[in-house]
Amino acid sequence: MTDFDTPIARRGTGSLKWDKRPELNPLWVADMDFVSPPEVIEAIRSRVDHGVFGYAQAHPSLVETLQSYLQNRIGYSAPEEEIVHLGGLVPALSLAARAFGKAGDKVLTCTPVYPPFLGIHHDAAMELLTVDHVDSGGKWTFDWQALEDKVTPDTKIFVLSNPQNPMGRVFAEDEITQLATFCEKHDLILLSDEIHCDLILDEEKTPHFSALNLSEALRDRTITLLAPSKTYNIAGLGYAFAVIPNDSIRRRFTAARGHTLPEINCIAYYAAEAAYKHGEPWRQDLLAYLRTNRDLLTSTIRERIPGAKVPQIEATYLAWIDCTALQIENPIRAVEDAGLYLSDGAFFGHPRCVRMNFGTQTERLKSALDTFCPVVGS
Ligand SMILES: Cc1ncc(COP(=O)(O)O)c(C=O)c1O
Repeated sequence: MTDFDTPIARRGTGSLKWDKRPELNPLWVADMDFVSPPEVIEAIRSRVDHGVFGYAQAHPSLVETLQSYLQNRIGYSAPEEEIVHLGGLVPALSLAARAFGKAGDKVLTCTPVYPPFLGIHHDAAMELLTVDHVDSGGKWTFDWQALEDKVTPDTKIFVLSNPQNPMGRVFAEDEITQLATFCEKHDLILLSDEIHCDLILDEEKTPHFSALNLSEALRDRTITLLAPSKTYNIAGLGYAFAVIPNDSIRRRFTAARGHTLPEINCIAYYAAEAAYKHGEPWRQDLLAYLRTNRDLLTSTIRERIPGAKVPQIEATYLAWIDCTALQIENPIRAVEDAGLYLSDGAFFGHPRCVRMNFGTQTERLKSALDTFCPVVGS
C-alpha cells in the first residue's frame, strides 16, 4: 500500500495552496498533499538528468500512451490527429470560447461549477447564461426545462464538468446523451471537461460516460478535455489534452490559439506519459484512501451539522458543503476567522456554500473537521 498518511511539509515550497495565505490551514484549491507516483518522479528525474531543456513536442511513446489510455479507460480509438496537446485545461476552455463565439454570443453552463467556467466568456466578449443543477431524489442533475427556457439562438457552447466539480456527481449515460441531444437541437458545441474522470471513487457503481462514448453523430460536436494532472497530483507541471473528432471543429479550435499560448513544458510531457503508463496501482491505492476520507467527511458533517447539505460524493476529492439552511450568514468568513482556508462557494455561483478539499492526510482532515463543525454548525 502507498503511504498517504505521512504529512509532507509544503510551506515555503512556492505552493499556491499552502503559501498564498500562510496564516491559514489550507483545504482549498484542487491539489493533494501527496507525493506523485514514484514512476512519475523517476521520469521527471531522468528527463532533468539530460540537462537540455529546449522547445518540446509530444514524443511518439506519449502519443501511443494517450491512445492506449483512451482505448482502455474510455473505449475510444483516437487517431493521432484528433489529439491536441495543451499546457493546461483552462486555456482550452478559453480557446473554445474564442473559436466558436463572437461578441454578444452566449456560453451556457450549469451551476454551481468550477469558477473558470463562469469567466471564459470574457475572453471572447461573450455573455454567460447559467442554470442551476437540481436535486432529483438525492442526485444533482440537469434542469432540462430551465435549460430549454434559457438557451437562445445565439448560444454557441455548453460547458460541462463531468465528473462534476464541485458536487462530485458522475453523470450517467442517459444524462450525457440527453445533454448532447439538447446541444444538437440548439446547434451548440459540447465542451466536456473530464479532468476528474480518473477520480471516480466507485467505478462499478458510477462508471464514467465520456462525451467520446456518444453516438458518432452526437460526438461530432464535442470537444473532450482530459489531463493526468488532478489524479496524479502534477497540476503544477501544466499538461492537458483535447480529443476533437470533427476536423473542422478541431481546425477552428487550434487556429484560435494564435500566439497566445506558450510551448508546452518539455518535462510535463514525460510526467504525463509515466502517469498514464505506470500510475494505475498508485491510483487504486489513492482511490481507497480518498474513499475513507470521503466517508469520514460526509458522516462527520451529517452527524455534527445536520442542517448542512453534503451531496453523495461519487468522484473527486472535493466536498461541496451547502450551509444555506444554517444560521450562519457568511460561512467562508467564519471558517477563515477560525483559521481554515476553504474555497468560497460564491466563486462557483453559490454563496453560503463552501468547498473542502479532502485530498490530504486523514488525521489532518479530522482536525480540520474539528475546527469546521462547531464554527459552522453553531
Ligand atoms: C473541472 C476542472 N477543470 C480544469 C481544472 C484545471 O485544469 P488546468 O490546471 O489544467 O488548467 C480544474 C482544477 O481544479 C478543474 O477542477
